[in-house]
Amino acid sequence: RTVYVNGEYVPEAEAKVSVFDRAFLMADGVYEVTSVLGGRLIDFDGHAARLERSLGELGMGMPMSRDELLTIHRELVVRNDLTDGMIYLQVTRGAPGDRDFAFPPEGTPQTVVLFTQSKPGLADSPLAKQGIRVISIPDVRWGRRDIKTVQLLYPSMGKMMAKKAGADDAWMVEDGAVTEGTSNNAYIVKDGTIVTRNLGTEILHGITRAAVLRFAREAQMKVEERAFTIDEAKAADEAFITSASMFVMPVVEIDGDAVGSGAPGPVATRLREIYLEESR
Ligand code: PDD
Repeated sequence: RTVYVNGEYVPEAEAKVSVFDRAFLMADGVYEVTSVLGGRLIDFDGHAARLERSLGELGMGMPMSRDELLTIHRELVVRNDLTDGMIYLQVTRGAPGDRDFAFPPEGTPQTVVLFTQSKPGLADSPLAKQGIRVISIPDVRWGRRDIKTVQLLYPSMGKMMAKKAGADDAWMVEDGAVTEGTSNNAYIVKDGTIVTRNLGTEILHGITRAAVLRFAREAQMKVEERAFTIDEAKAADEAFITSASMFVMPVVEIDGDAVGSGAPGPVATRLREIYLEESR
């Protein structure tokens, strides 16, 4: 694989980042994941805009223009002959000479890393016909989940808790309400209405979420952006998640209880179709 590190395209084995990098020592960095289908980037503009926002919230600027970022994304698709998969982008506060809680001086160069991950047949995942199973776990993450930081230890532990329980993923619960999945936004459908957590600092503002809600409204589906409980989810007709890497993925079981019929529902299935049609 050819990866991008600080201005250069290099074979992955030759890519180097400092041990003093702030992301390595303090999780002081942000990231984006953009899907690639048939060699085309999905929703690049949305991801670039959110990157700029995440950086801004942490007092950092963009390391380069959106156009330059787009060029690197496209270059990596070509150099790696990528058809289906994703591009990971990470920007950190850089690598000052020492470990220090205080931010490094203005002008310390940021670290910029991009790499590709190939996932042939990504859009035709058999999992979408089957649906996934989730467990609920407490949401103990920090309070600024709207910033896409590389601080992913708890979501990673949540994924392992799910696997240990024989499930695929975890939905996180705070003050009695579902926030989101470990790496995706969470939805339920009741009597034809799609319900998903309202935007705020409690969840990541998913780029796929924005697109899917737009398509749902265009298709005259009813959407409510509000908090919902796990009990409400278990009693729902359908449930699903969205993310750049899963698109729209039906959820068929929560904490071992079947959601609705226990099979992917019509709303989730239709939204997945629309999303993939619009993206290709
Ligand atoms: N995760 N919520 C969380 C906590 C996420 O990490 C993600 C994305 C989302 C969905 O956002 P989007 O639709 O913009 O991908 C929601 C990416 C895919 C990841 O970490 O791999």
